[in-house]
Amino acid sequence: MALADRLGGTPQLSPITVDLDEIQATVLRYRPEPYFGTHLMLHIADADAGRELVRRLVPHVASAADWWQADEAWISVAISYAGLVALGLPDDSLRSFPESFRVGMASRAEQLRDHGVNAPANWDKPFGTGEIHIGVSVFSGSEQTWRQTMDTARRQCQVAGVMVVTEQDFGAQPDSRNSMGYKDSIGQPAIEGCGVEALPGQGRPIKAGEFILGYPGESGQLLPMPCPDLLGRNGTFLGLRKYQTRVGTFNRFLREHAASEQERELLAAKLVGRWRSGAPLTLAPTRDDPALGADPRRNDDFTYADDPQGHRVPLGSHMRRMNPRDTTMTQLADVNIHRIIRRSTTYGAPYDPDAISDSDDEIARGIHFLFISAKAMATLEFLQQEWVNNGNFMDLGDERDPTIGLQEEGATFTIPREPVRRRIHDIHTFNVLRGGEYFFLPSLSALKWIGNLDHAAGARH
Ligand code: HEM
Repeated sequence: MALADRLGGTPQLSPITVDLDEIQATVLRYRPEPYFGTHLMLHIADADAGRELVRRLVPHVASAADWWQADEAWISVAISYAGLVALGLPDDSLRSFPESFRVGMASRAEQLRDHGVNAPANWDKPFGTGEIHIGVSVFSGSEQTWRQTMDTARRQCQVAGVMVVTEQDFGAQPDSRNSMGYKDSIGQPAIEGCGVEALPGQGRPIKAGEFILGYPGESGQLLPMPCPDLLGRNGTFLGLRKYQTRVGTFNRFLREHAASEQERELLAAKLVGRWRSGAPLTLAPTRDDPALGADPRRNDDFTYADDPQGHRVPLGSHMRRMNPRDTTMTQLADVNIHRIIRRSTTYGAPYDPDAISDSDDEIARGIHFLFISAKAMATLEFLQQEWVNNGNFMDLGDERDPTIGLQEEGATFTIPREPVRRRIHDIHTFNVLRGGEYFFLPSLSALKWIGNLDHAAGARH
């Protein structure tokens, strides 16, 4: 599916007020469908090697220019705080990054409620160790261009003193499904000034500053930005969370609580808020509608106004928690300041609906959840504390997100319906966190500045 098709055909253009030539493509380009790609995580032994790497990569990093009609493969470059230090950024620049970014995702485990099986002590190495400095990702809509672009990326990474510390291929599974068997990456925010009108149901465009540094956010103010201006402007933050899907546990849960395949699929839909085809329960409440799920101009075109009690989409379903839209919440929150751009990638063995054993939980299969926001760290902490691992904002007591919540013994999930609601007991943690990092996604000019730092006054050697 060409990118324009992901936007429902020829998109309606609108005025451009952000600097698309400067912003990295990943911020605005939708993930292709099907998609192929690789995340390379690099460690740099010293600043000179790191800057040479950045200088070599810059000409190959795609910008967001014409993002709505770009169909070629692209490369993105993201840098962790440890990476910025290793690259020798001036001290005043380093100090200008938010505290939660500087200490890293693992050190914020308490604020992120990453406890128990999700605790950093259980993560796959080298996540959380400070060894990951630079993330180079290739995204492509075809296997052939993925391989060609990977060759290009790898050639640039052949610098003495640059080591690949982990790498992960990813890609679409049959029907573009993720590791739990659902189509994903549907609901995305519309962003003001990026050149394309919002899709039906996407809601009003959100101020660019919520997603890209250097522009006013929803409050009308600029968000705090790393200095100098050249480093911060048109950059943003990217969070990565590596999840392992316990497919055996998930399938057993569905079987234990549903009598037939039809009921099982309805339960799977209730957990997320969409059928696995992507069709939203709001528009297809009783049976799947794959044509609706596949249509970008219809599959997100709804509100929750006609479903205040959650009879169609449970209040506690993953999608309704993560973007409550117009749901009346018991704890008031402005939904538009907690939106994120999602660019998640599915890795490993395809979802298998018949896998029901414990050993199926251990098969490498899951999601690198990638999300982008100008305040990614604060947003993730808010989501994890308030909307994922807490039910108070929707009067759901201690129920947690059924997809990504860390479930405790005897945890429940409520499906509201008439005449009596159904409360399902013993919901498990279906996705275990296996790693995570925060990255800065610099603009193209900022990457050049970083690559040439040894010539800049004040740089550390
Ligand atoms: C293994 C991990 C995850 C799985 C399997 C998963 C699955 C899904 C699915 C199937 C959808 C509905 C289709 C779509 O709109 O894309 C969805 C939507 C969404 N998810 Fe996740 N997700 C995961 C992790 C996360 C995390 C960690 C967050 C945030 C902290 C998140 C936030 C969202 C948001 C914001 C939406 C869109 C809601 C909307 O706009 O209506 N997801 N997810």
